[in-house]
Amino acid sequence: MPFFTSLASTSLESYRGPLLIAVVSQGAMPSTLAAFDQQLGGALTRIYGSGDFGGKKDETALVYPAGAPSRILLVGVGKDPGTAALRRGAAVGAKRARLLGAPTAALVCPPECRGAVSVTDTHQSLAEGAAQGTWHFSEMKRPPDDVKPVFESLEILTGGDDPAAAARGHGIGAAIGAGHRYARGLQVLPPNVLTPAVLADRARALAAAAGFGCTVLDRAGAEKEGLGGLLAVGQGSANDVRFIVLEYQGGAGAPVVLIGKGITFDTGGISIKPAQSMEDMKYDMSGAAAVLGTFEALRHLRPKLNVIGIVPSAENMPSANAYRPADVVTSHFGKTIEIINTDAEGRLLLADALSYARRYQPACVLNIATLTGAIGIALGSVAAGVMGNDDVLIEEVLRAGRRAHERAWPLPLWDEYRDLIKSDIADVKNSGGRAAGSITAGWFLKEFVEGYPWAHLDIAATAYTDRDDAALVKGPTGTGVRLFAEFVLARAGA
Ligand code: BES
Ligand code: MN
Ligand code: ZN
Repeated sequence: MPFFTSLASTSLESYRGPLLIAVVSQGAMPSTLAAFDQQLGGALTRIYGSGDFGGKKDETALVYPAGAPSRILLVGVGKDPGTAALRRGAAVGAKRARLLGAPTAALVCPPECRGAVSVTDTHQSLAEGAAQGTWHFSEMKRPPDDVKPVFESLEILTGGDDPAAAARGHGIGAAIGAGHRYARGLQVLPPNVLTPAVLADRARALAAAAGFGCTVLDRAGAEKEGLGGLLAVGQGSANDVRFIVLEYQGGAGAPVVLIGKGITFDTGGISIKPAQSMEDMKYDMSGAAAVLGTFEALRHLRPKLNVIGIVPSAENMPSANAYRPADVVTSHFGKTIEIINTDAEGRLLLADALSYARRYQPACVLNIATLTGAIGIALGSVAAGVMGNDDVLIEEVLRAGRRAHERAWPLPLWDEYRDLIKSDIADVKNSGGRAAGSITAGWFLKEFVEGYPWAHLDIAATAYTDRDDAALVKGPTGTGVRLFAEFVLARAGA
């Protein structure tokens, strides 16, 4: 479902639409709302005076004033908001607007409600939040009898903001918002619909619309290229593997390479998973979604640098043709891998992609994957785990994560952990057991990294959520898109 935000210089006093959303910080009624409040006969003064609303985080109040607009939705963001709070405020407002059935709305964030956030960052955050808050997926349900109008556009009021600064921020926020929605739209698709071949078709369509380069290897192509890890994982499924490469050219110099795990469904294979929550394993392509969503954002952002996206995609199924524990597989890199557990499949296809990436002589490689359940034990669903071979790059990733409010936290790849993936008969084994599960997965990947700075993001606990909240519906979170977009923008010096 498309959703658009735009900037408007309409004054509050002249807005006549169905819903005005005011994103406000905690405290007394913002003084820039005073004239507007007077026009409404003091409706805002009354609600503030009642004590029913004070602008706390996620607090909302709906006001039906006598004059225009027909409704006002106050959304609190707490004291001294930063960009994350403003983004969340816009998301809460937009989500509520959609549920109210408003076909359109306007949103304002008074200047005294923005903490120390700049005009540009305010508008970026508001646009991102609005795009995120309205996202939902109903295409596979029959329409309800009392079908509500679709909330499809939002005007963000600029008031006294510098128009150029507001436009710059809004442009970035809308682009990232579109990428974020794109990622969630892929993540949510059921695995019988989103097969590796269909994922490749989506990537091709995105590339065609944006003018990006796109190469897709099918099984024969993967065999020729020697992608032994990808082929082993995919060999048990009737839905053949794909190896997808996207190329964005925005400048000169060595590219940033983004690699996303694209397992369209992870049953565990012969080492089959229990039935409990297995349906969540449709989200095992969330890394791929983050990479493709980033390219959707790049389509609008057009930063001045080069970015390559690589998505190895397969379905992990048990069958008569499936790979098995004890198999030894030869990777693209040339190292041999003893399979201990067919459920440790993501690292096998990422290994091939990391090896394939060498041909680009990358400035750096970032890979993103729903790689280990253990990352949720370590960090919960608050942060992604980061590992890598270069402290400067890791810090750059953490910084992008802070700015995006998709937080990441480092885990060590000390030499002692390498012992856990020693194989008796091959160069390495694909599972190190339960202890330090996220780190041994990271170490496994590191075995296939050569010649470039590299960082790995484990998003197994942050890619989807089983809880609805004020800002986000339950399901896919689109995590990674904002972090990657911020990383690329910072590298491009934007
Ligand atoms: N896709 C899973 C990881 C995962 C778990 C993602 C929970 C989202 C939620 C991955 O392929 C996997 O199965 N990892 C195993 C590795 C183990 C066999 C070494 C795990 O985490 O248990
Ligand atoms: Mn698995
Ligand atoms: Zn998996």
